[in-house]
Formats: sequence, structure tokens, C-alpha cells
Amino acid sequence: TKPKVWISRPFFPDIVDRLREHFDVSAEPEERAFSAAELAERLADSDAAIVGLADKIDGKVLEAAPKLRFVANLGVGYNNLDIDALTQAGVGASNTPDVLNETVADYAWALMLAAARRVGEAERWLRDGQWHGSRFEGWLGADVHGKTIGILGMGRIGQAIARRAAGFRARVIYHNRSRLDAALERECAATYVDKASLLAQSDHLILVLPYTPANHHAIGEAELKAMKPTAVLVNIARGGIVDDAALARALATGTIASAGVDVFEGEPSVHPDLLKIENIVLSPHIASASRDTRRDMAALAVDNVLAAFGHGPHAGRPPTIINPGVLADAS
Ligand code: GLV
Ligand code: GLV
Repeated sequence: TKPKVWISRPFFPDIVDRLREHFDVSAEPEERAFSAAELAERLADSDAAIVGLADKIDGKVLEAAPKLRFVANLGVGYNNLDIDALTQAGVGASNTPDVLNETVADYAWALMLAAARRVGEAERWLRDGQWHGSRFEGWLGADVHGKTIGILGMGRIGQAIARRAAGFRARVIYHNRSRLDAALERECAATYVDKASLLAQSDHLILVLPYTPANHHAIGEAELKAMKPTAVLVNIARGGIVDDAALARALATGTIASAGVDVFEGEPSVHPDLLKIENIVLSPHIASASRDTRRDMAALAVDNVLAAFGHGPHAGRPPTIINPGVLADAS
């Protein structure tokens, strides 16, 4: 009999079909949140799983899934997976790095530009039927061209964001746990600064950090106060990196000018104070959601599962496995 793969949400049927030759596929018919008990039940006799960022796979769920050998995450960030517990249980895990870098970088710029130029506010006003004449001093926003753009977190996505600054003749400064090598800094035309300087000097600040306990509330009240009152803050990283309550206060009181936010603490719920504020652009975690990139992410997840079970061009070597030691131990 074929091994069983459970897929926690429906996606591109032609990509899912690539699994069917080798797996008994069980795909959820609709997108929804699963409790730990529901995950445990669905994984009870699964050999592999393809999960999304809302599916929390921890030690407890794994205890109920004795046959599980591989979990493919549909996303680059994998703070929904307890990697230590997976590794201990001998379960391989993969994510979807790199295929989404450029698409997420596009979206960081989209949010930055939309927040700086007040696109959402102005559209709401127009849709509300309030446009009766021109307003020469209406909708004054912040320029992005020629300004200093700060990037906190300079992985591949941060670098892709930085490269886009050239056409805007913007200056890029960044802070990261480790500094880029000189060649990469030159290629990105990015200058390394400490976090305090990044906060103080950025006209617009983009967050691209992975979520870790150490990054919890990396941007809170004190950091927001250290920013320019004209600044735009963009969070395309993870909920929890920004203290959302503090952000709502900062936007309401003019500590910073505006924000573009794609990820939230406790999403899909959004802090109610953020919903009351006009000077923020909100989106439901869609930074990687282009037609091409979501297909590439799905295909990469499927490639990893196939490879983990010895099939396809990467047989035995899942291309983006996070804990490769697990497979080495098994062989
Ligand atoms: C999206 O948030 C991802 O991690 O891919
Ligand atoms: C950004 O933090 C990345 O992982 O590329």
C-alpha cells in the first residue's frame, strides 16, 4: 500500500496530482484552522503532511502521529513547527525559501508606497463619495524616492528589498545579527548600522526578521519612540515581532506617521485598535501571494515530500529540508 500524505488545505490540483502515483493523498476540501486535537487525529495514520503556517506541529501532535516521517511547510518562516520535537521524533521538515524572495520584496515596496502615499485612506474616502473637488493640500504623504530606507533583518528577502531601492535613488541602511560580506553589501548598496541608528535614521523601516522568542516585540513602544515622527513602518515578517498595541498607540498619537502591516500577533485576529486607525494599510498575510509564487511554493513542498520518500529528481535529498540530520540517521 502507498504511504499516506495529508494536505491541510486545498491547492493547485495539478500540483497535488504529482503526489498520487506514490501516495494515498488526503487533502482537506477547505482552508480552515485546525486545533491540536484535530491535527493529531488527521496525522494519526499519515506518513507525510503538507501544512500551512497556521498549523502548529509540536511534540504533543507528534506523539499522536507515530508513522509520520516528513512535514512540508507552505512558507519560508516555520515558527509553526517545533523543529527540535520533529528532529527528536525522526521527522524531516522542509520550508519554501528563495522561491518567494522577489514576490515578498515586491510586496514590501507595495505596502511601503501605499502607506507613505496614503493609498488606502484616499481610496476609502473616494469610495465613500466624498470627492467633490480637488484638494491641493489633501492627501499629503511622504516621499519614498531619495529617502533613507531601513531594513531590519537582511536575509535573502531583505537583500531583494534593498536591490529595488536603486531605481528610487533611495539610500539603504540595515541591521542584522550578522553583517553581510563586503561584496554583498556593495551589490545591495546597503550600509550596516546598529539598531539604534537604524531606528533613528530610517525614513521608512521594513521588518524582515524571522520570528524567534528573542525577536518577540523587537519593535515596541521604546523602538517606535526612537523612530522619526514622519516614518513609515512596514511589517511583512511575522506577528509578534511588533507589539501591535504599542503600534496602534504610536499611530494614533503621531509617534510615527503610518504603517503597512501584513502580519499580526494572534492572526487571523487583528488587534481591534489597529482596525480603528486610518493611517495604516492592513492586509491578511499575503506578501507571497502572487499566482506564480504560490504555485512555486506548492511545487517545492511537493518536491520535498516526493524526495523524502525516494522519488523524483531529488530522491533522498529533499531540496529545502530544515533538519537534514534526520534523513542521514534513517539511512
Ligand atoms: C510567509 O509568511 C512565509 O513564511 O512564507
Ligand atoms: C529573511 O529574513 C529571509 O529569511 O530571507
